[in-house]
Amino acid sequence: MMVPINFSEVLKNYPNSVFIETGTYWGGGIFAALRANVLGAGFEKIYSIEIDRCRFEDAVKLFERNTNVIIIYGDSRVKLKEVLEEVFEPATIFLDAHFNRGEVEYSEECPILEELEAIKQHHIKSHTILVDDRHSFLNDLGMSGIKQKTIIRHLKNINENYEITTDYGYIPKRTNDEIIVAKEKTE
Ligand SMILES: C[S@@+](CC[C@H](N)C(=O)[O-])C[C@H]1O[C@@H](n2cnc3c(N)ncnc32)[C@H](O)[C@@H]1O
Repeated sequence: MMVPINFSEVLKNYPNSVFIETGTYWGGGIFAALRANVLGAGFEKIYSIEIDRCRFEDAVKLFERNTNVIIIYGDSRVKLKEVLEEVFEPATIFLDAHFNRGEVEYSEECPILEELEAIKQHHIKSHTILVDDRHSFLNDLGMSGIKQKTIIRHLKNINENYEITTDYGYIPKRTNDEIIVAKEKTE
């Protein structure tokens, strides 16, 4: 497999008509999803949820011409469920909401387990789920004390047929084990 040049080349391998991201930050995930569309991903709607008001407002301005990009202000623990209420087909869901070093005031805890619970409650069980920053869940404490094995258990609780693999995360981390991928097995 060729090493991807940027994250869009990773995302294009997980096509669906809906792309949902938690944690917008400066919009890198949205740019990657838009570029993945040029490569054939087919994301007709791109949703991104951001808890920080300034980042949310900047992203709204940045993508104001992209009518298929919908940016939502708020906590993914609440907003992911609301977004999923508008989704009636399998989506590619990129979970990347967490605090950055020195920013704990925005979110004391990593919301990943609540996000996975929201996905579990949804009527579609075949979403493709990408969990970013796998390495942060590997050390003794894990991000917010959450370990990779807990995340995998929650993924399997959504759909026991999920195949769990890893892939390249946001470049420049150039190893193919930075995101956890849960995808339904295809025959
Ligand atoms: C690592 S950055 C996201 C990077 C972005 N996905 C990209 O690919 O460029 C994490 C973002 O998550 C946001 N965040 C933290 N906790 C959140 C929560 N509970 N809900 C929504 N956003 C959250 C932070 O404000 C920050 O902007």
